[in-house]
Amino acid sequence: MANNLLDGKKGIIFGALNDKSIAWRTALRAHEEGARLVLTNTPVAMRLGDINQLSEICDAPVIPADATSLEELENLVVKSMEHFGGRFDFLLHSIGMSPNVRKGIPYDNINYDYYLKTLDISALSFHKIIQVCRKHDAINEWGSVVALSYVAAQRTLFGYNDMADAKAVLESIARSFGYIYGREKRIRINTVSQSPTMTTAGSGVKGMDSLIDFTERMSPLGNADADDCADYCIAMFSDLTRKVTMQNLYHDGGFSSMGMSEKAMTQYDKSFREAP
Ligand SMILES: NC(=O)c1ccc[n+]([C@@H]2O[C@H](COP(=O)([O-])OP(=O)(O)OC[C@H]3O[C@@H](n4cnc5c(N)ncnc54)[C@H](O)[C@@H]3O)[C@@H](O)[C@H]2O)c1
Repeated sequence: MANNLLDGKKGIIFGALNDKSIAWRTALRAHEEGARLVLTNTPVAMRLGDINQLSEICDAPVIPADATSLEELENLVVKSMEHFGGRFDFLLHSIGMSPNVRKGIPYDNINYDYYLKTLDISALSFHKIIQVCRKHDAINEWGSVVALSYVAAQRTLFGYNDMADAKAVLESIARSFGYIYGREKRIRINTVSQSPTMTTAGSGVKGMDSLIDFTERMSPLGNADADDCADYCIAMFSDLTRKVTMQNLYHDGGFSSMGMSEKAMTQYDKSFREAP
């Protein structure tokens, strides 16, 4: 149900690959809520994915950019401002990739060139995007910047590998730049720590089916899906959350506050009884 929460607002959405992407679901909701959008992804993702379909639905141009390239980010921000006729109001960083995870290289035998790539794509890109926006004074006062994170930044989850380190850096950037941008222009910067979700990036995580089953049993409200996450991002872009900044906001059905649930214990008891 649309409530015109983003009426008159403009924003850039990074990371819509296909209709499972959290960025895709968020773009659809932002469009429904009255926002004007620019969509962006890497040229490769544009070729492999379906972003042009989303562009048609949302009546939004797609401006390619590799989020690790300052040059391409400059071009994106300048072209977006031309498109909007000035500054914009919100931005979603929905970007993650680890070559170590992709190639099945474990954390204790990590490839350091890949590790640097993981950090650059999944965390430093957030800093680069914000720095380029600030240089161009591209975001309106009381604007909202959101990046998607995961609880592996705080807790160790088997198999999440170097992405856990990237998420810890990502969340720290939100605090460090949140102070600077908040102080200067009242722009808020937060991370949303989302439940495991079956997307293209999500399905690359080791043991994803088991993880989703585990967190579903552990969370009193159940896992949050991509549409739930989109709703939360809309709230964060809206004027209803103007004093929320420098936070890592759990959006996980309560998982992050749990130790053991009845449902998980029942499952564990069962396998314990069945064990030889
Ligand atoms: N799926 C989950 O379980 C889950 C849980 C918590 C947080 N997240 C986070 O949500 C975000 C979005 O992931 P998703 O699950 O929607 O998967 P997704 O695969 O749909 O999206 C990941 C996006 O990152 C983009 N990307 C990769 N390298 C890039 C680069 N160099 N420059 C610009 N874009 C690049 C990809 O093209 C893709 O569109 C990621 O930050 C991910 O870590 C996902």
